[in-house]
Amino acid sequence: MRSHPHAQPLNYLSGFGNHFSSEALPGALPIGQNSPQQHALGLYAELLSGTAFTVPRAQGRRTWLYRIKPSASHPRFERLERQIAGSDTGPITPNRLRWDAFELPSQPTDFIDGLLIMASTASAEQAEGVTVYNYAANASMQRAFFNADGEWLIVPQLGRLRIVTELGLLDVEPQEIAVLPRGLKFSVQLLDNGARGYICENHGAALRLPDLGPIGSNGLANPRDFQAPVAWFEDSDGPTSLVQKFLGELWSTQLDHSPFDVVGWHGNNVPYKYDLRRFNTLGTVSFDHPDPSIFTVLTAPGSVEGQANIDFVIFPPRWMVAENTFRPPWFHRNLMNEFMGLIDGAYDAKAEGFMPGGASLHNCMSAHGPDNATAEKAIAATLQPHKIENTMAFMFETAKVLRPSRHALECVQLQPDYDACWTGMAKTFNREMPQ
Ligand SMILES: [Fe+2]
Repeated sequence: MRSHPHAQPLNYLSGFGNHFSSEALPGALPIGQNSPQQHALGLYAELLSGTAFTVPRAQGRRTWLYRIKPSASHPRFERLERQIAGSDTGPITPNRLRWDAFELPSQPTDFIDGLLIMASTASAEQAEGVTVYNYAANASMQRAFFNADGEWLIVPQLGRLRIVTELGLLDVEPQEIAVLPRGLKFSVQLLDNGARGYICENHGAALRLPDLGPIGSNGLANPRDFQAPVAWFEDSDGPTSLVQKFLGELWSTQLDHSPFDVVGWHGNNVPYKYDLRRFNTLGTVSFDHPDPSIFTVLTAPGSVEGQANIDFVIFPPRWMVAENTFRPPWFHRNLMNEFMGLIDGAYDAKAEGFMPGGASLHNCMSAHGPDNATAEKAIAATLQPHKIENTMAFMFETAKVLRPSRHALECVQLQPDYDACWTGMAKTFNREMPQ
């Protein structure tokens, strides 16, 4: 694979869910049809489906690729000896869990070898549910990869990534996210010495923007801030190792050409990036903390209406102005299951213990909320307009219980005393109403 210049800023196409057209050479895109008998540049036409052919048009996702060699041109895949860490599910636990940040590897480790499954709701063949990963890498991939099990939402926490995809290049840094469609071939290059972050693998219907309801036609993540790559290709006959993840297992084959040979493409099944700092955060201007669904960036529907397979929710810098209100996130027990991570700074519900690069898991009906120190401070506070700054936390919220991997339950990063942040909470009950 060719090395890619790191310094120059990339061009992107703007908008969420658009039917884009992009060609790296004039004539790469046929006019008025998808599959001509003879392509003007001698390219092969290939369809990449993101949805079944027969879904309602508004939900359909597909892209036509015009490439030097068809993807079908590959020998047999062989199962790799090295599989993804954390592939075995751990014993059942209803407990609240929290992890310290995972360290960067000391041995050369690329993005795929640096994957660690933290928790999952279901096997990939169920076509719903999610798998949550941490990644920690210190080397660029010298191979290409695709995931047959679902789309990936990548949330970098440390280190910039250049993601080389069949449809072009995406540069993402912490406080940005990238979404890669199921089956799209890509390779992750590190633009810094190390990289760390989180991935939500969505086995179900593709992520989309949430409906806005009474909010209206603007707000939260605005569609034009989503960026897709422009066509980019390499014409190389050098050998390339291509790895796929299929039903959770890694399998590899050897290509006699670069898989990044798509000279032009059109469609709406595309990788994209989004800068979380562009999120138009909304909240109360009167009283009470709204439900965290007000912070939803992307959502993917589940089998029960309104109960998402995955909601991607962020907690960005914002003004707190609520009057006569307990301002932190309230104590709660949730039907949904919450995996949280911290990209930057501190999270407003926890005074300590939840660190950038760390994670927490609160499954269905596990009681949680602000820790003791945060709650005491919030109750005693003189309420003034206050800006929460230097923070970016996120949540993967899913309808199904997240089963931690055995690795996640046995690693040294698992905090043994997370429950302690809620013990010894003062009893402030007073039977007599104050006079
Ligand atoms: Fe929660």
